[in-house]
Order: sequence, then C-alpha cells, then structure tokens
Amino acid sequence: MKKVFFSCVIVIGIFFLVAAPALAGDKLIAEATDYFKPIPAKPPVLKDNPATPEKLELGKILYFEPRLSSSALISCNTCHNVGLGGADYQETSTGHGWRRGPRNAPTVLNSVYNVAQFWDGRAKDLAEQAKGPVQASVEMNNTPEQVIKTLKSMPEYIELFKKAFPQDKDPVTFDNMAKAIEVFEATLITPDSRFDKFLKGDSSALNEQEKRGLKAFIDKGCADCHGGINMGGDDYYTFGVVNSPISRIVGDDKGRFKVTHATEDEFSFKSPSLRNIELTAPYFHSGKVWGLKAAVAVMSTAQLESVLSKKELDDVVAFLKTTTGKQPQITHPIFPKPTDATPHPKLD
Ligand code: HEC
Ligand code: HEC
Repeated sequence: MKKVFFSCVIVIGIFFLVAAPALAGDKLIAEATDYFKPIPAKPPVLKDNPATPEKLELGKILYFEPRLSSSALISCNTCHNVGLGGADYQETSTGHGWRRGPRNAPTVLNSVYNVAQFWDGRAKDLAEQAKGPVQASVEMNNTPEQVIKTLKSMPEYIELFKKAFPQDKDPVTFDNMAKAIEVFEATLITPDSRFDKFLKGDSSALNEQEKRGLKAFIDKGCADCHGGINMGGDDYYTFGVVNSPISRIVGDDKGRFKVTHATEDEFSFKSPSLRNIELTAPYFHSGKVWGLKAAVAVMSTAQLESVLSKKELDDVVAFLKTTTGKQPQITHPIFPKPTDATPHPKLD
C-alpha cells in the first residue's frame, strides 16, 4: 500500500516538474502574442510598387553602387552594412568628405515594417526615404541630375532599368531608382529568431532567464513602446517621459518637432525597432551609448515609472538577444562597366 502511495506521489511530482513550467511558458506565449508578432517568412507586398525579380536585382545593385555618390566611394551599404546588422558601428554616420552627420544610422533590416522612416519619421516610406541620402551633403552629396547622367552613361544600367520598369518610356529616373531600392530593402528581413519561435508556440525556444526578461519587458511597460512585428518603429515618444536622460545622450536634437513644429513633439523620436539589437551598437539617435545593458538602464530611468532591478536588467538584456533573426545572405553584385561618358569622382 505504502509503495503504491509513494509511486503516486512520485508520478504526480514528475508531472508537476515537467508540465508546470511548460504551462507557465504557454501562458507567457499567450501574453506575448498580445504585444508582438513574429517576422513573416516572406517580405511584405508593397503598395504601388510590386516586386519583380528584375526590380529586385536592379535594387540590389543600386543599394551597393558607390557611384550614386559624388565621390564614387559611398553607397547605401557603407552606412547600412548588411553584414553589420544593417547599420555602420559609428556614433553618427561619416559621409562625403569625412563629414559627420548629426544622427546615428538606424538599421535597414526590417525597416519595411516601420510606420515611417528616419528617427523623426520625415519620410513616409522606403522609396521616399532613399532619395534623401543620395542628395544629403553629409552623406552621398549628389544631385538627381548627376545620378541620372551617371546611370545613363552605362548601357548595362539602361538595360536593367528597362527590364525592371517595362511600361516606362524613359525608365532611368530618380524615382525609379528609389523604387528599385525599396523593393530590395523590403527583402532585408530577419525571420526565425528564437523569440519568433517562442511566439509561434515553442516554449523551449527561450530559457528561464530570457522568459523572465520577456515578462519584465511586458510588465514594466517596455512593450508599450516597443511592440508589434518590429518591437518598435510604430510611434513617436518623448525621450525622457519620466526623467530627462543626461544631456550628453539627448543633445540638442529636437527630433519629431522638426517635422510637426508642435511643442509636445520636442525631443520625441520614433521608438526604434529592438530586433537584432545586439548587432547594432551604439545606441540612441545620438549613438552616445555603446553597451546594450547601459542602453536598457537609460531607458529604465528615462521611460519607466518603476525602474528595473539589477537582476531584471540582466534578464531583459538576455531576452533582447533572443530577437536576433536569420540575417539576409546577399551576394555582392558586379556593377555595370563604366564608359567614357561616366562622370569621374569628385572628392571635395
Ligand atoms: C553617410 C551614411 C549614410 C548613407 C550613405 C545612407 N544612409 Fe540611410 N541613414 C543614415 C542616417 C544617419 C540615418 C538617420 C537619419 C535621420 O533619422 O535623420 C539614415 C536613415 C535611413 C533609413 C531609415 C531607417 C529607420 O528606421 O528610420 C533608411 C531606410 C535608410 N537610411 C536607407 C538608406 C538607403 C536606401 C541609402 C542609399 C540610397 C542610405 N540610407 C544611405 C546614414 C546613411
Ligand atoms: C514611452 C516609450 C518607451 C518606453 C516605455 C521604452 N522605450 Fe525604449 N525607446 C523609446 C524611444 C523613443 C527610443 C529612442 C530614443 C532616442 O534615441 O532618442 C528608445 C530607444 C531604445 C533603445 C535604443 C535602440 C537603438 O537602436 O538605438 C533600446 C535598447 C530600448 N529603447 C529599450 C527599451 C527597454 C528595454 C525598455 C523598458 C525598460 C524601453 N526601451 C522602454 C521609447 C520607449
């Protein structure tokens, strides 16, 4: 009798040991799916700019093409390196003539899921965005006319644009350049992170510490500003809702105010995506914080009513590292051959 009793206790004990954490894990999955969505396996369909293999191929070439810059040295990939998490590992970007821009380069990975582009949301989509850096004096320092002259000087480019935009009479245009780049950028997504596996129902994809980190991320309010597919990128918030972070980090950049001119938007910025965040130091629009733990600590005091404990800080950092997904594997393109008509680089 005693034996049977003890066996029962052991069987029930084993059941709780195995099943209870799993049940708790499932509850956390349900809670997490209220806030986040996994990155889909395939890129989204773009409104008004449907992808074709030809447009994608052209977009990839243009993304890596340094001759879109007046120095013929700087491409989109210089500051949004697809091998560096889509960013540049600089505080603020260095562009034409070694000049430093005012802001840190956000990643292009998964940027197609952002509500708008730039830290202040001043470009409505990736196609509108792509025209900016080509012309910015601290970036590629070129003009649309010079870009078209350069592209049209190479018959292979004319052919590539014709194939990508078969309906257009004169397909080599600045707008079409931007559209092709947009189609390529939309493919730069990073599915299959461990966090995505967890969201899709695999409770064992996160360990106990990472689960605690996720729970704290939700309970403390991080998820309110860093939710959705991209864990951010969907709205603007004051940097320093609760406490103003030290001025060294904020600087004098007024953020969204520059776009809306509304006083309540002073020092507010798009909440950046936290996907692949371990790959894209340094952090914040100023790039003044290098460590991920330090960045989370800044957020904790600046944005939360109740700050994270030391242990929660470690847990949240461990959780954030589970958002690193499959990085895009891109073969570097071979560019069209220059001709005698191709403009020469201007370095100053
Ligand atoms: C000299 C460095 C540099 C170059 C070259 C450059 N960018 Fe950027 N990019 C930046 C910086 C810095 C920002 C943020 C600027 C801001 O918010 O005001 C940015 C922002 C972006 C964003 C917005 C991402 C987001 O989350 O808001 C996208 C997309 C992007 N760039 C794509 C491109 C493309 C496409 C090209 C090539 C046509 C390009 N960039 C060239 C530095 C660069
Ligand atoms: C009220 C909204 C809000 C809350 C709450 C919030 N954040 Fe943020 N987060 C932002 C904004 C806005 C930025 C961009 C600030 C800047 O650079 O100007 C940001 C930036 C970050 C960055 C830097 C990302 C990068 O690419 O530079 C990290 C990391 C981060 N947040 C993590 C967290 C964590 C972890 C929590 C919870 C402890 C949290 N955030 C809570 C709005 C919020």
